[in-house]
Amino acid sequence: MESKSIALDELEIVATDKKGEAYVIRGYNHSKDREKLIEMYATFSPEQRCLGLPPTTRTGIEHWIDYLAENGIAFVAERDGRIIGHAVLVPTEDGEEVDVTIFVHQDFQNRGIGQRLMKVTIDYSKKKGYKGMMLVTERTNVRAIHVYKKLGFKVVDPYLEYDMYLDLRKAKD
Ligand SMILES: CC(C)(COP(=O)(O)OP(=O)(O)OC[C@H]1O[C@@H](n2cnc3c(N)ncnc32)[C@H](O)[C@@H]1OP(=O)(O)O)[C@@H](O)C(=O)NCCC(=O)NCCS
Repeated sequence: MESKSIALDELEIVATDKKGEAYVIRGYNHSKDREKLIEMYATFSPEQRCLGLPPTTRTGIEHWIDYLAENGIAFVAERDGRIIGHAVLVPTEDGEEVDVTIFVHQDFQNRGIGQRLMKVTIDYSKKKGYKGMMLVTERTNVRAIHVYKKLGFKVVDPYLEYDMYLDLRKAKD
C-alpha cells in the first residue's frame, strides 16, 4: 500500500453540533491527552457500552487506551478542554484496511458529533490510501448502525455481532 504521511497534530476542525454549540475535532496526542481521555471513559455510562467496551475499571481503561495509542491512529472531539468523543483506527496486519471504533460521551450524543468524527476518520483513511474500513457493533445498536449506514457502510456479517464494511475506493467525498 502506498502510504501518505498526514500530520495528525496539524489536523484541527472547528465544528458546530446540532444544538449550535462549537467543538473541535483534532488528532489525539497520547502524551498530552491521555488523562483527559481516561476521564471521558471513566465517566462513560455503563449502559452505553458496546461489545464490552469501554472497560469498566480505571486500570482496564488505561491498558486499553495505551494499547490503542501504540497500535492505532486516533481522533478526538473536544469542547472546553474536555474530550467528549474518541475514534480510533487500527490498521489490519497486512496494512491494507483499518478497523474503526468510536465512542461519544453520553452527555454529547445525538448532536451530530459521532457522524462528524466518523467522517474525519473516513477522509483520513482515504487520503492515507487504505482500501477499506471495517467495524463490529451489536445487532441491537440501532443508533450506531444508522450512523454507519448513513456514511456508506454495508453489513457484511449480520449473524452473531454486526460486521460492517466501507469500501473506501467507492466512498463519497
Ligand atoms: C454510536 C455513537 C458513536 C454515535 O455518535 P452520536 O454523536 O451520538 O451520533 P450522531 O448524533 O452523529 O448521530 C446519531 C444518529 O442516530 C439517530 N438515532 C438516534 N437514536 C436512534 C435510534 N434509537 N434508532 C435509530 N436512529 C437513531 C439520530 O437521529 C442521528 O441520525 P440523523 O442525523 O440521521 O438524524 C454514540 O451514540 C455512542 O458512543 N454510543 C454508545 C457507544 C456505541 O454504541 N459505540 C459504537 C461502537 S460499538
